[in-house]
Amino acid sequence: MQIIRDLKTLRQAIFSLRSTGADRARLALVPTMGALHDGHMSLVRAAASRADHVIASIFVNPTQFGPHEDLDAYPRQEAQDAAMLEAEGVAILWAPTVGEMYPDGFATSISVRGISEGLCGGARPGHFDGVATVVAKLFNQVQPDVALFGEKDYQQLAVIRRMTRDLDLPVEIHGVPTARAEDGLALSSRNAYLSADERQRAAELPSALRDGVRQLEAGGDVRAVVGDIYSRLKKAGFDPIDYVELCDAVSLEPVLTLHAPARLLAAARLGETRLIDNMAVKSML
Ligand code: PAJ
Repeated sequence: MQIIRDLKTLRQAIFSLRSTGADRARLALVPTMGALHDGHMSLVRAAASRADHVIASIFVNPTQFGPHEDLDAYPRQEAQDAAMLEAEGVAILWAPTVGEMYPDGFATSISVRGISEGLCGGARPGHFDGVATVVAKLFNQVQPDVALFGEKDYQQLAVIRRMTRDLDLPVEIHGVPTARAEDGLALSSRNAYLSADERQRAAELPSALRDGVRQLEAGGDVRAVVGDIYSRLKKAGFDPIDYVELCDAVSLEPVLTLHAPARLLAAARLGETRLIDNMAVKSML
């Protein structure tokens, strides 16, 4: 596996990868911020099944962190990450420096209106502009045929799908189901921040959502189900609860009926750690 930090070397390496074999080789990109776990690795495996070569990126993107968020504290463990990627047969690890990604005078931002604004966009203003801009740059740098993103960050996946369509980016976007720990907690680099006691209580988030999905699919009232989830999270010590919402699975507009596939999404803080999760809710039609 080649570890590359500058764009000129990346472009040469991509050109060589593309020219291997008789036909034009198919390339998959898995963008990450590192501190890799089994959730990231499930994206890498899904990528390998969809392309001839997998390129993974690690870049802790400063523009998607708010002024009081954990940019400096964000876990960094590149050597361990590189070993995990190499073991899965990744061809290139693209790990640009901040200066390479954002050259002096950098002035462009991509803003995906509407779909970026509610849910996590409400709690983290500017976050999805940072995500959309860096992902568009990663697409242009690597020029993959397919890029893979986790359903764990469901709004992020929806924003990237919208941007890709709106800007006619020649990339297929593939969403991968959330990888979870045995007690149901979605794997996340930020779980490392939880104390042992918080880690135990954290499982109430997926558990309350799963019960909520069951109740909704059995015809439960949306406001009542959402209220129950709030109470359970409060009781488990989550505070504040940024949102618990039922949304259309594609537009992420809030919904109160199940006329189309929906998504139940929540974000809440446990101690210093902000956790997010979401689950599919089937349409009743
Ligand atoms: P990061 O949080 O490192 O996540 C990288 C990718 O892994 C994202 O697509 C995320 O949804 C996916 N992922 C994380 N946990 C997962 C889990 N438990 N199951 C399945 N997939 C999971 O998301 C980002 O980085 C950044 O915003 C990025 C897209 C790289 C742009 O900077």
